[in-house]
Amino acid sequence: MVELASRKRWVVGITGASGALYGLQLIRSLIEADQDVHLVVTEAGWRVLKEEQGWETSKRQQAIDAAFPGLVESGRLKLHPNADIGASIASGSFRVEGMIIMPCSMGTLASIAHGISDDLMTRAADVMLKEGRKLLIVPRETPLHAIHLENMLTLAKLGVKIIPAMPAFYYGPQTIHDMVNFLVGKVLDQLPLDHDLYRRWGDEQHGV
Ligand SMILES: Cc1cc2nc3c(=O)[nH]c(=O)nc-3n(C[C@H](O)[C@H](O)[C@H](O)COP(=O)(O)O)c2cc1C
Repeated sequence: MVELASRKRWVVGITGASGALYGLQLIRSLIEADQDVHLVVTEAGWRVLKEEQGWETSKRQQAIDAAFPGLVESGRLKLHPNADIGASIASGSFRVEGMIIMPCSMGTLASIAHGISDDLMTRAADVMLKEGRKLLIVPRETPLHAIHLENMLTLAKLGVKIIPAMPAFYYGPQTIHDMVNFLVGKVLDQLPLDHDLYRRWGDEQHGV
């Protein structure tokens, strides 16, 4: 297969925060945008995939294959075990464009903000910081206490994009997927990658 010059690699992290669907749609959208994805899911992330998506998570690679048919086989999507701190994405010498953690738990957020990298998720994020690569975090929790907010501020000061899982209503969402797509679109805007996941304010067809 010929690798296109425009095709880049992104690390996607799915943690144990609510909103696993965000991460799944992000993977689909990155692939549709002709990007390659390296995926890492925390133990709690697998639990939430089971709770929210009804996934059978005892066979994780099979679960990914079922959700994304053909993508692993074709090399577009690679699942890394979170315990594999020797994985490619644990090293700064492995070329990736950046990392998006979507959704991000307060636990993972805290680890990254304090330089604790004791699993692949937090190590890969630490690599983004040390290498000066893109790191986008989509935190999901409510209400937020001062430690959560301070951790977000710490990371924002390091150049991390904090994109809270906050829905908007100005574009007329009708379904959960509309709301998920809005947030995924906001992430893609930052990479930046073209998409039509949500209707932009001021677009002709807006009709408001
Ligand atoms: C169904 C479910 C939903 C959860 N939602 C959240 C959430 O929205 N935000 C959060 O910070 N933690 C949430 N948690 C708790 C985290 O999963 C927990 O703190 C876990 O230790 C995070 O681990 P991780 O950061 O390694 O994924 C949830 C747990 C479950 C089981």
